[in-house]
Amino acid sequence: MTAQEIRQRFLDFFESKGHKIVASSPIVSKNDPTLLFTNAGMNQFKDFFLGNKVPEFRRIADTQKCLRVSGKHNDLEEVGRDGYHHTMFEMLGNWSFGNYFKAEAIAWAWELLTKEYGLDPDRIYVSVFQGDESENLAPDDEARELWKKWLPEDRILPFSKKDNFWEMGDTGPCGPCSEIHVDLRPESQRSSRDARELVNIGDPLVVEIWNLVFIQFNRRADGKLEELPEKHVDTGMGFERLTMALQAKNSSYETDIFQPYIRFIEQVSGKKYTNSYAPDAMSDIAMRVLCDHIRAVSFAIADGQLPSNTGAGYVIRRILRRAVRYYYSFLDLREPFLFRLIPLLADAFAHVFPELKAQTGLVASVIQGRSNPSSTPSKTACDAWKAFRRPKA
Ligand code: SER
Repeated sequence: MTAQEIRQRFLDFFESKGHKIVASSPIVSKNDPTLLFTNAGMNQFKDFFLGNKVPEFRRIADTQKCLRVSGKHNDLEEVGRDGYHHTMFEMLGNWSFGNYFKAEAIAWAWELLTKEYGLDPDRIYVSVFQGDESENLAPDDEARELWKKWLPEDRILPFSKKDNFWEMGDTGPCGPCSEIHVDLRPESQRSSRDARELVNIGDPLVVEIWNLVFIQFNRRADGKLEELPEKHVDTGMGFERLTMALQAKNSSYETDIFQPYIRFIEQVSGKKYTNSYAPDAMSDIAMRVLCDHIRAVSFAIADGQLPSNTGAGYVIRRILRRAVRYYYSFLDLREPFLFRLIPLLADAFAHVFPELKAQTGLVASVIQGRSNPSSTPSKTACDAWKAFRRPKA
């Protein structure tokens, strides 16, 4: 299956289960002062969980542009070093607002992964919340029992609050969660070490792909948990990791999501990508960094966040400069380069996030203008931005 097919199949599956398919919200957080960027699919639904607004649909699914570069969820330093962390990623999600709960969420996750996508059930491990005395939270026995329908008990693993109690930030909707991990190692490695020992310890081939969160609480500003009037479901599956699993790759950069950019970078730099994760494989690391960062920066700009010296703009500026540093230092590219990836990116996302294709010129000129190692914004970038901001007649 191509990545496009994998995404579409997710949406079709949940549509067939009565979900309304909605658009991703912008990657730049517009209405929530507790966040700079959208860090999870549930952000745009926060008020439904808290009971501040009533949703038109009780079941929703989508693919959401997420950016994890600040605050509670920040993967920036991991990017490039391994094959499965990204700053910008797509989160495939399904939600229930006071409608179905754990039984359906778990049953459908299993059905989609093993029947629709055909993942080998023997390679799946799940985690459940083991409870937390300091917060007076009981172990999630209900989720454990539900998983027992499909998995042997020794592949249902208890984990603490750190891994299995999901919170979007210091405040907001939260609850116990159950994560689905996949063992992607070759058979030879599987027989020598049980994947149960590798869950949640950073093994590059035993990775979490889907998180099913059972939203039951609101974390208040004073740190206390208050029970919500209704129970909700918030799931998030890493699209790039799912694609890596379904395309049987050892890295998401080996999938058809990232390969076109890697091929292009190879062509321009004259360096060969070797899919190495050695700590000193600097040109490979640099190529992965570029593939990741161009997505983060492009979508942020397309959604209205220019690189700047403060706040969210400063974060975008840092990501852009980080990418420039990598290509300058390790790929020997001396001219602005990143913007040349944008047509590839815009085409790949034309049917999912058309806002990028619609603003290719703006995004490219801003990135080009800010891509010299000692850059100030170029005139073209400033002009493009002014034109973009000019109120419509
Ligand atoms: N909110 C959860 C997460 O981001 C599930 O969508 O992991």
